[in-house]
Amino acid sequence: LSEYRLRCISCGKEFSKEEVEYTCPVCGDRKGTLEVIYDYEFLSKRIDRNLFRKYSSKGIWQFKDILPVRKDMVFPALEVGSTPVYFHKDIAKQFNLSGFSIKDDGRNPSASYKDRASAVAVVKAKEKNYDTIFCASTGNAASSLACFSAVSNLNCVIFVPATSPEAKLAQMQVYGANVIAIDGSYDMAFDISMKVGLTKGWYCRNSAINPYLLEGKKTGALELAVQYDWKPPDYVFVSVGDGTVYSSFCKGFYDLKQLGLIDKLPIVIGVQSEKISPIADAFEKGKPFEPIDVEGNSVADSIAVGKPRDVIKAVTYAKRFNGNFVKVTDEEILDAIAQLARTTGVFAEPAGAASFAGFKKYARLNSLEGKNVSIIVTGNGLKDLKSAMKKVGSVKIYPADEEVIREAFQ
Ligand SMILES: Cc1ncc(COP(=O)(O)O)c(C=O)c1O
Ligand SMILES: [Zn+2]
Repeated sequence: LSEYRLRCISCGKEFSKEEVEYTCPVCGDRKGTLEVIYDYEFLSKRIDRNLFRKYSSKGIWQFKDILPVRKDMVFPALEVGSTPVYFHKDIAKQFNLSGFSIKDDGRNPSASYKDRASAVAVVKAKEKNYDTIFCASTGNAASSLACFSAVSNLNCVIFVPATSPEAKLAQMQVYGANVIAIDGSYDMAFDISMKVGLTKGWYCRNSAINPYLLEGKKTGALELAVQYDWKPPDYVFVSVGDGTVYSSFCKGFYDLKQLGLIDKLPIVIGVQSEKISPIADAFEKGKPFEPIDVEGNSVADSIAVGKPRDVIKAVTYAKRFNGNFVKVTDEEILDAIAQLARTTGVFAEPAGAASFAGFKKYARLNSLEGKNVSIIVTGNGLKDLKSAMKKVGSVKIYPADEEVIREAFQ
C-alpha cells in the first residue's frame, strides 16, 4: 500500500521517490518544494472509514496506509497524535456558530504539533540508513526532533536562534541533542543548517525542504475528520510560520476527499502575526506567487519567520482550496493565551493561542454565522512562561499569616 510519487509545487514535474531527496532540481529549494501524491484510485478500493476507527488508539500510525513510510519499519515508541478535541457550546453561542472546538496538540510527547512531523522524519532517516539528523527551528521542531531522535537512537544536530524560549532549549538539551544556538534569527539558523547539514551528509528535517514532513503533519487533519465523525468543520484555524502546518491541513483534507472518506473540504485559515506576515502578504499580493521576505519579530516566537520556506505551497493551497489568512497583533495573541486558558482550560504557547486570536478577528471581519469552527492549539503554554506572564504578571506574595490572608478576601 501507499506507493507514492513526488510532484513540484511550481512546475508540476513528477519524480519517483528514488529520483529526488528534497526539492525540485529545476525550481530550487525555495519554489520547488514537493508534494507527495498517492494513487488515490488504488488506495480508495482498500481504505474505508472502519480501518481508521479500528486502530484509533495508535496515534498517527493508524494512518500509515496513507503515509509515505515503509510499513515494515519500527515506529518510535512514543504515542504521537490522538490528541483531544474539546467542544465548547458557550463559545459557539457567543460567536453565533453551529459548533466550536479546540484540538489540543500541546498534548504530544514534546508538547507541540511538530511531533507529528518528527515521528515521520526519524522513520525516514532509519529507512534511508542515516545515523544523524539535523534541523533548523524556532524551537519546537528542534525539541521535537531531539525527543524523537533520542527514542530512535539517532544523532541529532539542532540549529536554533539563541533567543528561543528557555523551556524549548532545555528540552533539546535534556533529550541529548547537539544544540547550535545561533546569535541571529531563525532565518539565519536555517541557511546555516542547510550549508552545514547537507555537506556533512546528515538527514534534513527542515519541514519545507523534506517533502515527507508535511505528510506527518497532515495527520492532524485526518484525526480531526475522524473525531468529527467524517463530517469535518467548515473552518479550521491554525497559525503559520514556514507554512507547512497550514498546507498539511489542506493536504490532509484533500487526501480524505480523494479517498471518498469526506464529502467537503474545510476552509483552512492561516494566522500570522501582524509584525511578521510574509505568507499572508504573498497571498494578498496574488498570482504569480512569489516569496516576499521580511524582517520582524513577534511574541509568538514559533511563527516569527521572515523567510518562510514553504510559502509557495501554502499560498498555492490557499488559492486552490479557498483558504485565506488573517493577521493578529501581539497584544491579541497575549490576550488569547489567558482567555483560552480561563474559558477552556487549555494553556497554549503564543503561537498556539494565535489560532484563537485569529479566529476571533476573522469572525469579527467576516461572517461565520452558523458555521462549524475548529482551532488548532499547536504548542503547550509551559514552553514559554515568560510570554504568558506578560499579561497575568507575577504572583502576589503574602506573609504566612492567616489574618492577613482572610483580609485579602474582604
Ligand atoms: C507552536 C507552533 N505553531 C505553529 C507553527 C507553524 O508551523 P509552520 O512553520 O509549519 O508554518 C510552529 C512552527 O514552528 C509552531 O511551533
Ligand atoms: Zn519544479
